[in-house]
Amino acid sequence: MPKSIKKIGVLTSGGDSPGMNAAIRSVVRACAYHNIECVGIYRGYEGLMEGDFKSMNARSVRGIINKGGTILKSARSKEFRTKEGRQKAFDKLNESGVEGLVVVGGDGTFTGAMIFNQEFDFPVMGIPGTIDNDIFGTSHTLGFDTALNTVVEAIDKIRDTASSHNRLFFVEVMGRDVGHIALNVGIAGGAEEILIPEEDLGLDRLVESLNRSRQSGKSSSIVIVAEGDKIGKNIFELKDYVDENMEGYDVRVSVLGHMQRGGAPSCFDRVLASRMGVKAVESLLEGQTNYMVGLLNNKMELTPLDNAIKGKSKINLELLRVSDIMST
Ligand code: F6P
Repeated sequence: MPKSIKKIGVLTSGGDSPGMNAAIRSVVRACAYHNIECVGIYRGYEGLMEGDFKSMNARSVRGIINKGGTILKSARSKEFRTKEGRQKAFDKLNESGVEGLVVVGGDGTFTGAMIFNQEFDFPVMGIPGTIDNDIFGTSHTLGFDTALNTVVEAIDKIRDTASSHNRLFFVEVMGRDVGHIALNVGIAGGAEEILIPEEDLGLDRLVESLNRSRQSGKSSSIVIVAEGDKIGKNIFELKDYVDENMEGYDVRVSVLGHMQRGGAPSCFDRVLASRMGVKAVESLLEGQTNYMVGLLNNKMELTPLDNAIKGKSKINLELLRVSDIMST
């Protein structure tokens, strides 16, 4: 029989993403529903090591489902990577009687949780919160859908300028080492070309594709560049390259940056966060530990944290093909 858990802690760690607040709300309310105490832990693993805890009840999380960012704040902690740091965290959890932990974040957050679990046999459950969608074991991470909508809105606006001035825009989007955001927003925003790390387009093909676009009668173009793209040039060097090697282009660069991480979560992310929070709490109460909660085939499924971290979230090849066809 699993040891019954009476108090659960929840924290958000790593880069914030829209839907983290909705996940905190869900964890807190699922605890209240099951008559379990819940504490919010501030500033991720930093606050965990310092004992920066606050008792939360169903009313503490009112009015936050629609808010971006995280009310618990977030941090990327170096000290938690050390054995001493994790020992401090374990002591603080024991002092306050917390018996299970829900961590919301990306692969760095999960790595910390997994090591902590292995060292102290402490029950942990992960909720994938990152706009990058780079976690194995879930079709969607929290915040990905909202970020896509935010970026598409920005591209639509840039398109207005591009077409008014017959310009070529290189638009850089986030995604760390993966191209999920770029590929999706490229299709949705009608981009002429999409540069992602998973597919090395090469400069020659880019030039060829831009020429083809122009010959086919397009007077403006948008090229989406994933921040982790490996074409060998950063977005400003790409602009210089086109300026130097292609006639008659008026090129501009737009790096969207952190605006992609902010804003009210979409309906999809709010629902996903609510489902994930409930699943995380109930899994801990059933004695499950060291898993991540994910969405697979529209069901909540558990994936071992180790697999979630080491597995690759593959790019959808069908989307790649669609994007090629759409840019003809
Ligand atoms: O992981 C989310 C993310 O926004 C990535 O897309 C980006 O590479 C990184 O975080 C930026 O991190 P920071 O906010 O620390 O600059």
